[in-house]
Amino acid sequence: MALEVLTLIGALAILAAVAVYTLSTGVPPTPTSATVRDAILAVLPADPDGVVYDAGSGFGTFAATLARRYPRHRVVGIEVSPLPWLISRFHTYIAGHINLTFRRADLRTVGFDDAGLVLCYLSGPAVIALKEKLEAEAPPECVVVSNTFAVPGWTAERVVTAPDLYATKVYIYRMATAPAG
Ligand SMILES: C[S@@+](CC[C@H](N)C(=O)[O-])C[C@H]1O[C@@H](n2cnc3c(N)ncnc32)[C@H](O)[C@@H]1O
Repeated sequence: MALEVLTLIGALAILAAVAVYTLSTGVPPTPTSATVRDAILAVLPADPDGVVYDAGSGFGTFAATLARRYPRHRVVGIEVSPLPWLISRFHTYIAGHINLTFRRADLRTVGFDDAGLVLCYLSGPAVIALKEKLEAEAPPECVVVSNTFAVPGWTAERVVTAPDLYATKVYIYRMATAPAG
């Protein structure tokens, strides 16, 4: 009985930890679906000129895909929510991706001056925060790929539609041309 109660308390604590960060960022740690992942992989640049970031890496599955796609690049997942970040670290340890690291940080505190490619699946204040960081720091040749949500005020170089139930859009930007002004 005591074990069941402890398990229940543990499960509730885990749910509460995820919920608190979801409420504070406005973005749940929902992983990119396999169909959208494949649509994104089809449009990624062959050889990004710099570090590959997954800005808001959730449980780390998409960042792991990026690490396999770009074995000669440094791939960095940035995740503020502790539990998804911990699970990412565990997966990386098991899978042994030597080019993949996860930083537990708010993306507003991370420098993007070395970015060659930035992936995101963010909405609301989080995508605005990323936009401001990239406009201030990312090099002109940096490519930004946004799953589902357009970056407000930016002009996409290309928009593709994934063949899923929701006809999910993927927005591809280049820093040299995307931001207005
Ligand atoms: C929708 S998930 C996407 C996960 C992964 N990138 C993927 O595509 O499978 C977005 C993640 O961004 C994280 N996030 C939101 N705002 C953030 C911020 N300011 N700094 C760091 N991570 C953030 C959330 O905690 C969430 O786990």
